Amino acid sequence: MSGADRKPRALDRIDTSVAHPARRYNYWLGGKDNFQADRDSGDAIAAAFPTVPMAALENRRFLRRAVSFLTREAGIRQFLDIGTGIPTADTTHEVAQRIDPSCRVVYVDNDPIVLAHARALLTSTPQGATVYLDADVRDPATILSHPDLRRTLDMSEPVALMLVAVLHFVTDDEDPHGIVRTLVDALPSGSYLTVSHVTMDHMRPENAAYARTSQSHGPHGVLAFRSGERIARFFDGLELVPPGLESVVTWRAADEPGPRPSIEDAQIYCGVARKP
Ligand SMILES: C[S@@+](CC[C@H](N)C(=O)[O-])C[C@H]1O[C@@H](n2cnc3c(N)ncnc32)[C@H](O)[C@@H]1O
Repeated sequence: MSGADRKPRALDRIDTSVAHPARRYNYWLGGKDNFQADRDSGDAIAAAFPTVPMAALENRRFLRRAVSFLTREAGIRQFLDIGTGIPTADTTHEVAQRIDPSCRVVYVDNDPIVLAHARALLTSTPQGATVYLDADVRDPATILSHPDLRRTLDMSEPVALMLVAVLHFVTDDEDPHGIVRTLVDALPSGSYLTVSHVTMDHMRPENAAYARTSQSHGPHGVLAFRSGERIARFFDGLELVPPGLESVVTWRAADEPGPRPSIEDAQIYCGVARKP
């Protein structure tokens, strides 16, 4: 059964009294799909990091540039986008299919609100395909063996694995590096890994103290800020494409309209790497 078919059950699972990462991110991006608990949590985090809405926008811009690079310059036609988020302008398939309508995208998220919006992710061109899986990145085996994924992606051809602003919701205890290794191991040579991740590098001391306390379950759920060194380890064994691990503000951003925020304003690292 596809995600969209399960919409009524998804709505049953939605708890509006607790903040959810997807709805909080939607709030920071200026969207309407959020509730009071999400706005309160978003405001509390913004009190510690006032530029967080700008960081969310910059992350979104990075995602668009990365998909564009992967489709136009790296020749990728298949995407596995885990931690999709509530659909907003320029989702992965919209950007990729504008360049080549035959692109195929598998979306994965574990939030019932994203599942409830899945229809907006399933607006593929006739030449391409999109599917949505209601699944958890912490369970890569279920994602990789899902019949809808197997029907949509040819796993003998290169795939771009997109883990954009999702791994910081996985605690150290849950082994984020092992999860990424399992996913990348399932992909053929010529595939790509794209990661963006909040960092505690470049932080003012008071922010760094806050970041350390939110490593595991803090008042706003998991938000595991990691150092550039630890984020770089997600790319072990892969070839980072230029400019390497960078801020979402600067990664291939020469054509972004100015003025640009500073790296300190958007404390998110990102990178794209090829599997040899
Ligand atoms: C900050 S949003 C990022 C959305 C999109 N990738 C982007 O960068 O614009 C994080 C998304 O990851 C999802 N997420 C968090 N933990 C997850 C998990 N364990 N498995 C799958 N998705 C998860 C959330 O529901 C949310 O939709």
